[in-house]
Amino acid sequence: MSTKRYDLVDSGNGTRIPLDVRDGTLGPSVVDIGRLYAEAGLFTYDPGFKATASCESRITYIDGEKGILLYRGYPVDQLAEHSSFLEVAFLLLYGDLPGRDQLESFRRSITMHTMINESLLRFFNGFHFNAHPMAMLSGVVGSMSAFYHDTMDINNARHRDIFAHRIIAKLPTIAAAAYKHSMGQPFVYPQNRLDYCSNLLHMFFAVPSQTYEIDPVAANALDLLFILHADHEQNASTSTVRLAGSSGTNPYSAIAAGISSLWGPAHGGANEAVLNMLETIGSADKIPKYVERAKDPGDKFRLMGFGHRVYKNFDPRAKIIREMCHKVLAELGNNDSPLLELALRLEEIALEDEYFIERNLYPNVDFYSGIIYRALDIPKSMFTVMFAIARTVGWVAHWQEMIADPARKIGRPRQLYTGPDRRDYVPLDNR
Ligand code: ACO
Repeated sequence: MSTKRYDLVDSGNGTRIPLDVRDGTLGPSVVDIGRLYAEAGLFTYDPGFKATASCESRITYIDGEKGILLYRGYPVDQLAEHSSFLEVAFLLLYGDLPGRDQLESFRRSITMHTMINESLLRFFNGFHFNAHPMAMLSGVVGSMSAFYHDTMDINNARHRDIFAHRIIAKLPTIAAAAYKHSMGQPFVYPQNRLDYCSNLLHMFFAVPSQTYEIDPVAANALDLLFILHADHEQNASTSTVRLAGSSGTNPYSAIAAGISSLWGPAHGGANEAVLNMLETIGSADKIPKYVERAKDPGDKFRLMGFGHRVYKNFDPRAKIIREMCHKVLAELGNNDSPLLELALRLEEIALEDEYFIERNLYPNVDFYSGIIYRALDIPKSMFTVMFAIARTVGWVAHWQEMIADPARKIGRPRQLYTGPDRRDYVPLDNR
């Protein structure tokens, strides 16, 4: 607890309520309002949680003004340059970078959990061929609670660890099954000889009739994108996982809730929406028209992939992805992509526009990720699924942190009620 205190003063009768301030390691301190209702009969009001810390966490730190993102203290750009997705997953889950043996044993465990129950696989036949993969993903992940219930005691640390390894290992398999179902192609089983991202590409693109060569450029690009998407503190989907999990529900249900939240275009659905937008704009000469529409308060159109609730200067992930985008497209022999050119031109025009400057609207991570996914032949409808695979690590780390906290409480926000006052029921004939 900080030595600092604030007094809430009732300007009518002068009553003072002292409020303690709590300091974190980094970032703004928080005013602890836990006793406010008991002492003053007041709730606080902050729709969209613009100034509210919903929990205490030791996992990820963001400084939106300076464009800083740290996973367990390590800058994301250092991890992007030197680490791998599974090493980052270990870091987020367990708090420190693994030693060689720890990493090897974690890799082995993830590899050995990649298969899914055959009955779960048959679920996909129940989905229409054109079902959105995110719908299949949330449905099948939620259903996992019907299969792995032998290790679902949330108060048992060993069970929680088995769950963590299972879900991280099986998400690519489920995602690939959703893709294969939508393509009408046979399901491809995971291969233990392959690393996490190569295995994912193999399950997506291999077909029984011919050999599939994994392109290391594609596997490395995927690994980097997954590192950048692995966690982002208390965003909408992570907060959803925490809130759902706070009731003590099983973790598969909590993750399925997070997947549903991620799907929205204001969150993880933005990468798909960016590609749709670029395709709608079509050519550079149409950009001014769409920029004008984005600025018109009467028009719902927004520039997808622009703006962020927390980053008001630049999104450090977007900076890394922007560079990577050129590199990957060049290595894949795709560097004259008209889509990338259009995106760069749009970025240039928007960043010089007063409207975007005034509101601190910069390209976010999703502005470029879709272009890279497209270059890897991943279809648009799968973009948010790819995001979900990476973010599962963050969701699980946050769920673990919350459940392991002995002071855990069910999340139960209050409200400002503005509906009708008490009134008596009027029989139907008298209305
Ligand atoms: N295009 C045009 N105008 C925008 C945009 C945009 N992309 N984003 C925000 N604005 C404007 C708003 O209209 C508002 O203008 P006003 O002050 O004149 O009313 C102002 O900027 C502030 O916007 P808010 O919606 O209040 O900001 P908030 O922090 O609530 O929203 C969000 C952040 C949801 C990311 C928003 O910027 C947005 O919708 N962006 C497009 C979707 C997107 O890219 N989402 C991905 C986010 S990153 C992620 O989840 C991985």
